[in-house]
Amino acid sequence: MQSTRKTLPGRDYVDPAIFELECQKIFFKSWYYAGREEQAATPGQWFTIDVAGESVIVMRNDAGRLQAFYNVCRHRGSRLCDEAAGHSKGRITCPYHNWCYSHQGELIATPRIEENELDRSELSLWPVRVDVWQGFVFVNLSDEKPITLRESLATHFDEPLRFERFELNKLRIGYRVENIVNANWKIVMENYLECLHCPNVHPELVRTIKTYQTGWVIEEGRDDGGVSLPAGGTGYSPEGKSNLSIMPSMTALEANSIYGGAIPPNVSLDIGATGVMIIQLLPISPLQTRVIDTYLFNAVDVAKVDFDPSPVVDFNELVAKQDFAVCERVQKGVASRAFSHGTLAEKDIFVYEFVQRYLKLRDN
Ligand code: FES
Ligand SMILES: [Fe+2]
Repeated sequence: MQSTRKTLPGRDYVDPAIFELECQKIFFKSWYYAGREEQAATPGQWFTIDVAGESVIVMRNDAGRLQAFYNVCRHRGSRLCDEAAGHSKGRITCPYHNWCYSHQGELIATPRIEENELDRSELSLWPVRVDVWQGFVFVNLSDEKPITLRESLATHFDEPLRFERFELNKLRIGYRVENIVNANWKIVMENYLECLHCPNVHPELVRTIKTYQTGWVIEEGRDDGGVSLPAGGTGYSPEGKSNLSIMPSMTALEANSIYGGAIPPNVSLDIGATGVMIIQLLPISPLQTRVIDTYLFNAVDVAKVDFDPSPVVDFNELVAKQDFAVCERVQKGVASRAFSHGTLAEKDIFVYEFVQRYLKLRDN
């Protein structure tokens, strides 16, 4: 039977008007992965996240609750925090005229302005919805009340909620690396969703995960979504070897496996027993995506003085670089006037699912 399933048209990967539509219909309406809870662990600790050009501050307030705000001063609109992360000692101060905000986002000081000139109580930082699942912090910029984060996670075809059994909230960050990829965010996500390219593009990966040699992501005889590492292996690393400790929540079969799951629009997870890789996509423009890989490990390992995540990190970064190169190659091709659309094969089923979901959000 001939496939009639098509990719998106070339225009959808290059056109600024489509990118703007995605901002309005997807990035500013969906639960968008921001970072890990431990990045704002104690009162006053914060990090910033770029949501397709909108800067958001995620901060722990004095009551220990996580809050998020637009990174915008209520006086004349100055950007407040420039850095990716920080720890405030009591107040966030705007660098322009020194208006100050509490850890709860309230306006608490306005130097050189008379006390009765303005009503400070109405000038708190603009709030952004924030929620946490398994230590993963998501923000939602929607003006209308969105479905809850949990309800949203239940809608994804990769069923991320099934990973709750691994207690990923107990893991800690052991490594973080950023790359700029000259490709549309959808190309990066679509590449994650298929393994037809694995035998060509990832010779090292298919030596570690034999299922991927077939170009398919589901292992025959397994229905738990896992793919097996070589016998005895517990790491997403060359030949599956790792000296790091295994997540206590995992069975022996799970510890000898890798699990993957995409949470569109902007994050996917590769879960191994000794390390988890978070692949976070931050669209910059139709033609460019910032990709942040954050590696999580068992807290006991990260705390050790001789903690060495390099077998997992080096292996995954090698695979990531191989992926980025083909994504950039695709970006060049889809920009061709000839590329009306591409064709999806049976093993591109998850790409197809992603495209359907994307179109439903974008065009409704
Ligand atoms: S713009 Fe922030 S204090 Fe003036
Ligand atoms: Fe790949």
